[in-house]
Amino acid sequence: MCGIVAVIGSRAAAPLLLEGLKHLEYRGYDSAGLATISRSPHNGDGILQCQKTKGKLVNLSKKVQSQGAKGNIGVGHTRWATHGKPEEHNAHPHQDASGQIAVVQNGIIENHLALRESLESEGVTFNSETDTEVIPHLIAREIKVLQSNGLQNNGSTLLKAVQKTSQKLKGAYALAVIWEKTPESLVLASNQAPLLIGLGEGEFLCASDTPALAGFTKAILPMRDGEIALLNPLGIELYNSQGERQQRNPSLIHGNEQIADKRNFRHFMLKEIHEQPKTAKLWIARHLPAELPKHSPIALPFENDFYNDIKKIQILACGTSRHAALVGAYLLEQFAGISTSVYYASEFRYAAPPLEEKTLTIGVTQSGETADTLAALAMEKKRRNMHKNPAYISRQLGITNRANSSLARQVDNILDIGAGLEVGVAATKTFLGQLLAFYSLAIKFASINGNRSTEEIAKLSEELKAIPEQLTSLIKIHDELSENLAHKFSDTQDVIFLGRGINYPIALEGALKLKEISYIHAEGYPAGEMKHGPIALVDKKVPVVSIAIPGVVFEKVLSNAQEAKARDAQLIGVTTEGPESKIFDAILPIPKVSEWVSPLLSLIPMQLLSYHIAALRGLDVDQPRNLAKSVTVE
Ligand code: M6R
Repeated sequence: MCGIVAVIGSRAAAPLLLEGLKHLEYRGYDSAGLATISRSPHNGDGILQCQKTKGKLVNLSKKVQSQGAKGNIGVGHTRWATHGKPEEHNAHPHQDASGQIAVVQNGIIENHLALRESLESEGVTFNSETDTEVIPHLIAREIKVLQSNGLQNNGSTLLKAVQKTSQKLKGAYALAVIWEKTPESLVLASNQAPLLIGLGEGEFLCASDTPALAGFTKAILPMRDGEIALLNPLGIELYNSQGERQQRNPSLIHGNEQIADKRNFRHFMLKEIHEQPKTAKLWIARHLPAELPKHSPIALPFENDFYNDIKKIQILACGTSRHAALVGAYLLEQFAGISTSVYYASEFRYAAPPLEEKTLTIGVTQSGETADTLAALAMEKKRRNMHKNPAYISRQLGITNRANSSLARQVDNILDIGAGLEVGVAATKTFLGQLLAFYSLAIKFASINGNRSTEEIAKLSEELKAIPEQLTSLIKIHDELSENLAHKFSDTQDVIFLGRGINYPIALEGALKLKEISYIHAEGYPAGEMKHGPIALVDKKVPVVSIAIPGVVFEKVLSNAQEAKARDAQLIGVTTEGPESKIFDAILPIPKVSEWVSPLLSLIPMQLLSYHIAALRGLDVDQPRNLAKSVTVE
């Protein structure tokens, strides 16, 4: 799960590579590296220079600044460690034994152990524990064979060597390769991992994702599975996996990729929490316009036949996106009356349920790059479209925050949540955006299938319109309350989050937020499940955060909270103020709203409590250890 960039052109490569990597650091920040090729002033021969550092990109920038990196061609990498610890020797680029070839890779080479063994038996010595290092050694071996057959040291030879090497690699990967002997050739390969070629003025760039290219060019050529490209100053040669030349026009990056700016906030995460009223306001302006009729108030960018005859919805997602999907499933089933299942994308892709007719598959991913979600959607599309009965045909929708993402290129219909750039690894405003997307779908389906009356639909729409203002005041109140409470819990080892019904996924999300940024062990449970085992964990050292919102399960949640209190737990209630709230040792109050919209508000104390605990512990809130914003390996 890494970011790769590459460039070939007439300008110095290193500044472009570093700038590109800055926009890809969300994919991993365990180490960074780059390699460039310059020409010797004496004989014009290529000189490959490779620099790597452990940790964040800033370390590499400093190294490059002090040591210099010459040349107009280069490759760069920011790493999230899969094979081998996050140490400098495992950082990319990786090189062959002669140091003439440099490779950066994003993905996983699944058969690297067998390849390594065979290379070692031929006398190759490895310098890292990575899966990637087999690639430069294999390319070097292929080049030797090609040279012995009389091929020259030129771009075509490098291309052929990479083609031969790719045939030996198993897994999903994207790679960029340079070779000292051909300082005017850059070779790229993509197999089930994104790689985009950018067509700049007098230069070609390449990156794992659009933000790294947006500052240089809007014209991009996304590589397709199995493709290999040779780039030189004169043009691009693109080949499919059969070695056949491909021709196609570039597409344009939509809109403006935004620039990360923390403004006056201490962390991006805090800024992004504060941006949620705006996310909701924009969503309402786009999807709940005043002019639409009360029985069908939702505007969505799909033709009417998109909704026709859908009997079943299945949602594929990971992490926070899956929590949004669970709220979505509650709404789609309970409000719109459509049977809905949610799956971990990583499980679904290897153990999908039997096919059902007239099914809509929704993939939810804020980044639009999560490998498991993309692969699960692709697998589902393939097996459905192979079916002879048209009732099983694939119908897919993607919910994402990235209109330029791989997801947007993969599925036919996209719901762009439009939350704007989210930098913090912990998803906050994109979670809210995903929830809102599900409210729109639930209202739309309910209005089409008649599962709800006009009054019920109008009531929910009106409540949604009030959300931005409620969020504004709630964030203000909870910022202070959570900061105070954080002092009490900053040394806590375990926290339990309880919720039921539509707020059960918010309890899961509360636990995920806390563990990912504060490294405190936390679990989310449906409150009724506590007595089936987890209550054994409870004692006076384990705070229990209970989401108790008046509605179908209010009294039940209160009883479950009492059961924890009877075992000495410190009880924190995310609840409305009233006589019942007296059972809690501390309250994080929520205004009185209908249970339907309550998750849009109960998520705020979850986010702010986790944020303040992590900030108080002095942790790297925006880039927590071991994580990345976008999980591009399975
Ligand atoms: O980009 P995605 O929404 O597909 O990402 C899925 C998860 O990796 C993500 O939600 C992760 O759990 C976040 N770090 C949660 O804050």
